[in-house]
Amino acid sequence: MKVHVGTNEEISKLIADEFIKQINTKPDSVLGLATGTSPLLVYSNLIKANKEGKVSFKNVTTFNLDEYIGLDGTHEQSYRYFMNVKLFDHIDIDKSKTHVLKGVDDYEDYAKKYDDLILKSGGIDLLILGIGSDGHIGFNEPGTPFDSLTHIADLAQSTIIDNSRLFNNVDEVPKKAATMGLKSIMNAKKIVLIATGKNKANAIKDLFLGEKNEKIPCSILRDHKDCTIYVDDDAYSLVKNK
Ligand code: GLP
Repeated sequence: MKVHVGTNEEISKLIADEFIKQINTKPDSVLGLATGTSPLLVYSNLIKANKEGKVSFKNVTTFNLDEYIGLDGTHEQSYRYFMNVKLFDHIDIDKSKTHVLKGVDDYEDYAKKYDDLILKSGGIDLLILGIGSDGHIGFNEPGTPFDSLTHIADLAQSTIIDNSRLFNNVDEVPKKAATMGLKSIMNAKKIVLIATGKNKANAIKDLFLGEKNEKIPCSILRDHKDCTIYVDDDAYSLVKNK
C-alpha cells in the first residue's frame, strides 16, 4: 500500500486527479464509488473538472459500494439519493449506467447479481473507499469473510451510532445494508481510500499495523497490488507517532 498524507483539500484534489486521469485514458472506465462525508470534496472536484471540460463521464459506468436496506432511492439518506445529489445530477453521466445496490423490492436478488454485472461491464478500474471507525469498508463489518461477494449485511452497533448523525435519531438508522463483499472490493484493479479526522485514527492504525485477519476488514487491502491510502494528519496520527 502507498500512502499520501495531506489536508482534506490536498488529498481530495489528488484523488480527483486520479479519477480524471483514469477516465481520460479510458473514456469508458468502470468506476467504483462510495458515499459518506469522506469523498464529498473529491466529488466537488470532479463536478468542477466536468464543468470546465477537463473530463467527460459520458461513457463511464459506475457501481456503488453499498445501500441501506429499507430505504428507497428517493429517501434523503439512501445512498442512491446521495449519489444523485452529490455527483450524478451535476455531471454529464448517463444515469442508466450508474448502479447502486437496491434497498427495497428485489434487493436480495439484485445483490446476488451485482458481482456478475460488474464482471460483465469489464470489472472496476478505479474504486474509491471510505472507512468506518471500526475498520469496515463498504458495509463489511468486523467478522466478514475475506472471500465474501456482494451480500446483505447486519450493521455493527458502532456503525449505527456513527451514522445516526445523519438521521433524526438512532432508531431511524437501518440495521441492514446491501454491500459489495471484501472479495468484490479486492477485484477492483485500483483502489484509493480516503480518511480524515481523529475518529478514523484507530481504523487507520489497524489498517497499517493491526493483524491481518477478518476482525479487521480493511486489513485485506494490504494484499491489493494497487491500493493507495490518502489520509490527513489526524487520521494518520496513531501510525506516524508509533
Ligand atoms: C458508511 C459507509 C462506508 C463509509 C463509512 C465512512 O458506513 N457504508 O462506505 O466509508 O460510512 O463514512 P464517512 O466518510 O461519512 O465517515
